[in-house]
Amino acid sequence: MKPRHFISLLDLSSDEFRGLISRAIALKNHRDPDYQPLKGQVLAMIFEKSSTRTRISFEAGMIHFGGSALFLSPRDTQLGRGEPLQDSAKVISSMVDCIMLRTNKHETVTTFAEHSRVPVINGLTDLQHPCQLLADMQTYFEHRGDIQGKTVAWIGDGNNMCHSYIDAATVLDFKLNIACPSGYEPVKSIVDAAGERVRFFSTPLEAAKGADLLVTDVWASMGQEEEQKQREIAFQDYQINADIMKAANHDALFMHCLPAHRGEEVSADVIDGPQSVIFDEAENRLHAQKALLEFLMCRK
Ligand code: CP
Ligand code: NVA
Repeated sequence: MKPRHFISLLDLSSDEFRGLISRAIALKNHRDPDYQPLKGQVLAMIFEKSSTRTRISFEAGMIHFGGSALFLSPRDTQLGRGEPLQDSAKVISSMVDCIMLRTNKHETVTTFAEHSRVPVINGLTDLQHPCQLLADMQTYFEHRGDIQGKTVAWIGDGNNMCHSYIDAATVLDFKLNIACPSGYEPVKSIVDAAGERVRFFSTPLEAAKGADLLVTDVWASMGQEEEQKQREIAFQDYQINADIMKAANHDALFMHCLPAHRGEEVSADVIDGPQSVIFDEAENRLHAQKALLEFLMCRK
């Protein structure tokens, strides 16, 4: 059987996405130590970039399910010395049961998936961060119920997180208001694929009006550190602060994938305030990814 990969949210049907959310909530509410569906199975985790949440949640999730996880860095494997991706995918997938990658180039993950005989999971690329959206959507469903028909405001960089929000809007059928500084918009083909669900606004205040969920991310993502100063200028009017929260619906939630920079993309009173659910969101990485691992790895 051909393996099922998870490269973007568009790999899921709407029923599958909702099924993963329900399963994640069930796994969170009832942890049965005797339930070990991945006993003896191994997840290889390849990290070209840093991680706290993604690494720990995948590793802990595999241990909870009776399996184990290998942390692999290009620095210590032949990947860093230029071994072809195709060869690496064939070799690694002949020894493990699933591969999770966090890479710079999105094509590294798609090439791995093409040549792997086991499921490949995108743990973040420059283009997408779909695992984070599983956790974000679980968090929204837990606090407010189904997100269908609701309005989400994305304020900030048109980056990997923004792209995954656009895909989530398509699969779960919500509206996405985007406010990005000029020159930092999301990739056009991803926006176009979402059709009328995605709308652009020239200010964060306008994008926030009527929103049920407000989301932002760092102004400079991993790999863009040298652009930090230039981005601080471009994004200076794009902070989610109390005024922006006031423009949204009164029961709107605030999310951020973390790590966050208080005083830049979000003010401290918002991220540490009553509408913020960032720590539920972070914890849900574990539960949502356990549901994902079960979905991908227990199909045999
Ligand atoms: N949100 C997220 O992916 O966090 P890490 O970079 O710590 O994995
Ligand atoms: N956009 C951020 C997300 C980190 C989880 C980055 O790529 O660095």
